[in-house]
Amino acid sequence: VCWMKVFCLQPAGHCSFTGLCFSPLQQSELNSFLWTIKRDPPSYFFGTIHVPYTRVWDFIPENSKKAFQHSHIVYFELDLTDPYTISALTSCQLLPQGENLQDVLPRDIYRRLKRHLEYVKLMMPSWMTPDQRGKGLYADYLFNAIAGNWERKRPVWVMLMVNSLTEVDIKSRGVPVLDLYLAQEAERLRKQTGAVEKVEEQCHPLNGLNFSQVIFALNQTLLQQESLRAGSLQTPYTTEDLIEHYNCGDLNSIIFSHDTSQVPNFINATLPPNERITAQEIDSYFRQELIYKRNERMGKRVKDLLEEYPDKSFFFAFGAGTC
Ligand SMILES: *[C@@H]1O[C@H](CO)[C@@H](O)[C@H](O)[C@H]1NC(C)=O
Ligand SMILES: *[C@@H]1O[C@H](CO)[C@@H](O)[C@H](O)[C@H]1NC(C)=O
Ligand SMILES: *[C@@H]1O[C@H](CO)[C@@H](O)[C@H](O)[C@H]1NC(C)=O
Repeated sequence: VCWMKVFCLQPAGHCSFTGLCFSPLQQSELNSFLWTIKRDPPSYFFGTIHVPYTRVWDFIPENSKKAFQHSHIVYFELDLTDPYTISALTSCQLLPQGENLQDVLPRDIYRRLKRHLEYVKLMMPSWMTPDQRGKGLYADYLFNAIAGNWERKRPVWVMLMVNSLTEVDIKSRGVPVLDLYLAQEAERLRKQTGAVEKVEEQCHPLNGLNFSQVIFALNQTLLQQESLRAGSLQTPYTTEDLIEHYNCGDLNSIIFSHDTSQVPNFINATLPPNERITAQEIDSYFRQELIYKRNERMGKRVKDLLEEYPDKSFFFAFGAGTC
């Protein structure tokens, strides 16, 4: 991983990937997204994933959980328990005051988007599990929480929203994702917490795609959802795959794979040559902005923290896919 070059990390455990993981696993065969920064006291990097923690918790080895418990200070990419973070993320995703998606999008795209969201709203009650209903989570509430304000969102965020409004993803709502769960645990255990990124740093790069690129991406996303709806396409990539790779400790498949908070992969679609070029431009833009530049920025902040507090034990919990 890129961190190794900077900090000479040692894997704290290793799980050889054999293609498929069967549970129950031996402790030694569990995933290992923990790296130790050798100093006294030690600090740690832990690769998280943006899926319900209950799906991966049993696969996280004891050494990772102990490292978390013993650390003084826990750092995340963003502080998701801070109401300011949430409101800043929300407003960063909105169109400028007075603008509406209907004014911004080509008419055909707007119409298809509207139709797709109507379909999602209609289907949502049937997608939800008895377990979710038991917890008092209702389809109307969930739809509004995710998509309520869609007409005011910037197209790129609407695209990401549409990607997260699938049956599989809806079924997993209501349980905190692993990174959020760790943040809640850190709070419960009264650990000092912090974040290495500002909301704007995570949000602005996405807003930086130009108009034709965004329309292309939204069009591709809608085409994909329309094929799924028509039954002519199987879910091309699922959160299930991501969970399986994570639980197997298969970092290579996690890196650059597209987790739910990230960006869909258009390159492999069967596209005509000019559209393929646009897809590649978008992909390399995201890699540059969301992976390489972020790594550098985050790496520098980590280094500064470690130098400033040499007697503290840090636990850095960052998305496994962002390194
Ligand atoms: C968007 O960016 C691409 C690649 O940099 C460029 O070819 C295209 O002309 C730009 N489109 C607009 C509308 O600025
Ligand atoms: C959407 O994509 C399809 C297939 O690539 C293309 O034919 C169509 O013109 C696109 N629509 C818009 C509005 O860009
Ligand atoms: C494209 O699809 C092929 C076959 O499904 C797969 O082997 C390859 O890794 C994919 N490439 C990308 C960039 O996703």
